[in-house]
Amino acid sequence: MDKLLISGGRPLSGEVRISGAKNAALPILAATLLTQAPVVLENVPELRDIATMLKLLSQLGVRYRFGANTLEIEASKPESVLAPYELVRTMRASILVLGPLLARCGEAIVSLPGGCAIGARPVDLHLKGLKALGADIRVEAGYIHARAKRLKGCRLVLDQVTVTGTENLMMAAVLAQGKTVIENAAREPEVTDLAEFLVKLGAKISGIGSDVLEIEGVDGLDSGPVHHVILPDRIETGTYLTAAAITQGCIRTTHTRPELLDAVLDKLKEAGAAIIHGPDWIELSQTSRPRAVSFHTAPYPGFPTDMQAQLMALNCIAEGVGIITETIFENRFMHALELRRMGADITLEGHTAICRGVAKLEGAPVCASDLRASASLVLAALAAEGETVIDRIYHIDRGYERIEAKLAKLGATVQRIRE
Ligand code: EPU
Repeated sequence: MDKLLISGGRPLSGEVRISGAKNAALPILAATLLTQAPVVLENVPELRDIATMLKLLSQLGVRYRFGANTLEIEASKPESVLAPYELVRTMRASILVLGPLLARCGEAIVSLPGGCAIGARPVDLHLKGLKALGADIRVEAGYIHARAKRLKGCRLVLDQVTVTGTENLMMAAVLAQGKTVIENAAREPEVTDLAEFLVKLGAKISGIGSDVLEIEGVDGLDSGPVHHVILPDRIETGTYLTAAAITQGCIRTTHTRPELLDAVLDKLKEAGAAIIHGPDWIELSQTSRPRAVSFHTAPYPGFPTDMQAQLMALNCIAEGVGIITETIFENRFMHALELRRMGADITLEGHTAICRGVAKLEGAPVCASDLRASASLVLAALAAEGETVIDRIYHIDRGYERIEAKLAKLGATVQRIRE
């Protein structure tokens, strides 16, 4: 398993180009199952999770060519409706093929995702919604078997805000008979990007960007070739800006969208950063020790759970005490235990982490437990004195494109140790 070796303690500076958003690309890739039209997607990040989704789609009969962040993809004739355990267990987002397969082929057999490091992460709301749309759903021997000649539009009120749940149900509803209304829908920008892509395919969706999506089902989504540019990754943007804050450096992120990061930028400003931005760039400079910040995670436009670990790393070396409450996932503090090994003073009390800033972190061998936890360890390592070796770095390759190259360009001393 690859490791990252980081020698910390120097301010980062320079410009970094932000990649396309993993969490927008994944559902959009799954959505290509809904049409036989050729699709060209640009700004697709080259990540492990994208490779996994492409592997799954090719097993379903989808043809593609991928290079230089451009994906030409065509699902002219799906050949299978099976998403096997071997792939789903490596990436939970495989569940995103459930809605499109069911809508296009009338059947889907998808391995039930298990829990993961950050929580139990059930998919009951996906299944409840599909049942309400008229699907016959059975779970047998670890697989979801879903069937419906044609789904029928209805009103769905989601018990809880769910990102991939909203995406799955929206993708299923676009080919249903009649109108579907999804209330308490997730408003994450990645859901909006998917909706905009579906509209390009010929779907009829209104309320895009709000928590009530109205979908008028159509008979087919084959209006012709479609071109779409994947939304920039707001979490990657926030992670690099936090790298500037934690190292007291100055970084400009380009090819991004400042308006998608309000909650994160507010916290970074509260920590003492000076932030300026243009329409597609954000620059952060930090000239003194950051101040600790307190927040709770919440669905968009609240503070994203996917940035919680990174801001915790910032709090570790900040002045004062920061209190972080995680409200989305029940076990998303694994990084705290590793940060402590680098000298951080963090107390965990249920869903709350109390961080008392220390003057310096010290490099140490640490182990990544999930994608954003790895990002927080990278940030801590960049600020720490001495060398940090981060094990299980495959987690970071799932969601950060060419991270060592990007960090090295910003002046970090970072090296991948291949094993
Ligand atoms: N939930 C249920 N039942 C369901 C679905 C969700 O109880 O049927 C619960 C979850 O257990 C969780 C909450 O609802 O407590 C919200 O989960 P959600 O469904 O929104 O999460 P997700 O769709 O599985 C996506 C992202 C995650 C991100 C979350 C929250 C993708 C592929 N994944 O997951 O991204 O943390 O939304 O914003 O879009 C990451 O990129 O590192 C990552 C984990």
